[in-house]
Amino acid sequence: MAADLAALKRAAAEVAIGMVESGMTLGLGTGSTVEPFVELLGSGIFRGRLRKIRGVPTSKRTARLARSRGVALVSLAEAGTVDLTVDGADEIAPGLDLVKGLGGALLREKMVAQASKRFVIVADSSKLVGALGERSPLAVETLRWEHASHLDFFVELGARPVLRRVDDGSPSFTDNGNFVYDLYWESRMPEPELVDRRLRSRGGVVETGLFLGMADAAVVAGPEGIEVTARTETGAAADRTGR
Ligand code: A5P
Repeated sequence: MAADLAALKRAAAEVAIGMVESGMTLGLGTGSTVEPFVELLGSGIFRGRLRKIRGVPTSKRTARLARSRGVALVSLAEAGTVDLTVDGADEIAPGLDLVKGLGGALLREKMVAQASKRFVIVADSSKLVGALGERSPLAVETLRWEHASHLDFFVELGARPVLRRVDDGSPSFTDNGNFVYDLYWESRMPEPELVDRRLRSRGGVVETGLFLGMADAAVVAGPEGIEVTARTETGAAADRTGR
């Protein structure tokens, strides 16, 4: 089963690598689905098929992997505009609204995505949901200072908040030195736009894992094949092409 999942992630990454052209500045997402993409990028560079590629990593973990595969890295400020960002997701809703952040890189992922001309998601089909919040908690990055003061606010939003911890029980730190709360919902997130707006306007909340209206396309690999879904102008419907 795990091997099947790995094969699906690699299949999605193979389609995404076909979108890369020499000379591009690429946003490199974080997570187990992006990793085969970075590996394929490294082999494309090594073999000379891809030249003058620059990567903007969204986490220290991705930066380490990219460097080890010979991908030249630049900061977001140096890059200015990013041609294409390829990243994973925890949930993909119809219309390509996303929940991201189980890997803890949500803030950097959003900063790189918002600087990108094209933002493409790679995923296996287990990430498809009917509504956000069905499958995955919503990651919320908070300052460490007085982080527990947000608990009642999270509950008011209809969530059950859990401070993210590492194996030894201590709080998990993001690359930015902040904490993450995972917000669990009864069955689905009520009104994601409202939840996002309320969270983002709260002092001490740094970022949310809601990526609404940001993804341009999703490459989703499932047992039946690969589907590439592009967001339309209205953002509501999607064009699907099987492979
Ligand atoms: C990282 O913070 C996340 O946003 C990841 O992009 C997301 O969790 C997907 O990760 P996997 O590809 O490992 O499922």
